Amino acid sequence: MNNQLLTSLSEKYGSPLYVYDSEKIISQYNRITNAFSTVENLKLNYAVKANSNISILKLFKKLSSGIDTVSIQEVQLGLEAGFEPENIIFTPNGVSLQEIEQVANLGVQINIDNISILEQFGQHYPNIPVCIRINPHIMAGGNHKISVGHIDSKFGISIHQVPHIKRVVKNTKMKVNGIHMHTGSDILDIDVFLAATEILFKTANEFKDLEFIDFGSGFKVPYKEGDISTNIEELGKKLSKRFKQFCKEYGKELTLMFEPGKFLVSEAGYFLAHVNVVKHTTSTVFASIDSGFNHLIRPMMYDAYHHIHNISNPQGRERYYSVVGYICETDTFGSNRRISEIREGDILCFNNAGAYCFSMASNYNSRYRPAEVLVYKGKDYLIRKEETFDDLLKNQVIIDID
Ligand SMILES: Cc1ncc(COP(=O)(O)O)c(C=O)c1O
Repeated sequence: MNNQLLTSLSEKYGSPLYVYDSEKIISQYNRITNAFSTVENLKLNYAVKANSNISILKLFKKLSSGIDTVSIQEVQLGLEAGFEPENIIFTPNGVSLQEIEQVANLGVQINIDNISILEQFGQHYPNIPVCIRINPHIMAGGNHKISVGHIDSKFGISIHQVPHIKRVVKNTKMKVNGIHMHTGSDILDIDVFLAATEILFKTANEFKDLEFIDFGSGFKVPYKEGDISTNIEELGKKLSKRFKQFCKEYGKELTLMFEPGKFLVSEAGYFLAHVNVVKHTTSTVFASIDSGFNHLIRPMMYDAYHHIHNISNPQGRERYYSVVGYICETDTFGSNRRISEIREGDILCFNNAGAYCFSMASNYNSRYRPAEVLVYKGKDYLIRKEETFDDLLKNQVIIDID
């Protein structure tokens, strides 16, 4: 998206602001479907947690995507966006049986990731088929906080417990229609991913009523120039071939599923903020913006890198800056960044702001969450208003303190 358009959107809708480019979302979606075009039954379920704006969900619906959800509220947002329950999969972790029952009763595909709930669900609802989340014990993912398939992880049922799963299934007469894994985000090495899929195939052979195998997600996107990303085309070629071979062995055309979040929306998003203050200290130059980790927490939460550029002065001389937020504790978006000269009032643009940015935003420091804009077919649409003081008060019950 060009600087001129981003600047005009910032002026039109105020600051700070999230902007999403639907063309990028569509092209990323098409990249995956093209990479797996030889697979007969392919189903992508967009991971709602990455960005749960209803207009974004509607865009995915238009692309014939399903959705992957982790809370009943995400399921409800999906239904609100018009998804049929059969196009929603529920992959929670550590939620109550009650929540799982509620979602199952909506007709949504359940994915269970612990034996305790599997047993209880099977006893009560032997007729509702479930998918099982397997932990393949593979260390994949960009860093420890987003690697979820390793042995110490709380996610999934260990592959070593497959005999136990089978016993529960046999005793309760429940049906397992899917096998799932999600090893973690930011997977760099396709071979590690493929090694995990072999474990999943082996496990799949233990269940005779499967309809699908869900390989989760974790595809990495580039954050800076020269950055490597998951080679989806190569993965498509290798995994499609192996999947088709597996289906032959299994004796049934299964559906191949993925549930990408970041790969589909990360690069489509831009976060725009104004520079309030340029402060020269004895050791560095700070550019303080009209936002903080309340709006974009990824750098502070897991050292995520967001490329930052000055769209108000793109030709200016490059200098080194620490870009910081206004939250009253350490609040750093990037240290020692080479950015074209920053003046107070300039607009800074953060790339890769489409995934896990707004959806992780909060009201910390009693700030409003910002507006969101979607550019669709060349037109800009406000898809969420900036909050107001009423939003901060909305659920507060104000009592008299004498
Ligand atoms: C179960 C599950 N599926 C899919 C995703 C989406 O991962 P990504 O955004 O890396 O594609 C996540 C992310 O945390 C997840 O936990």
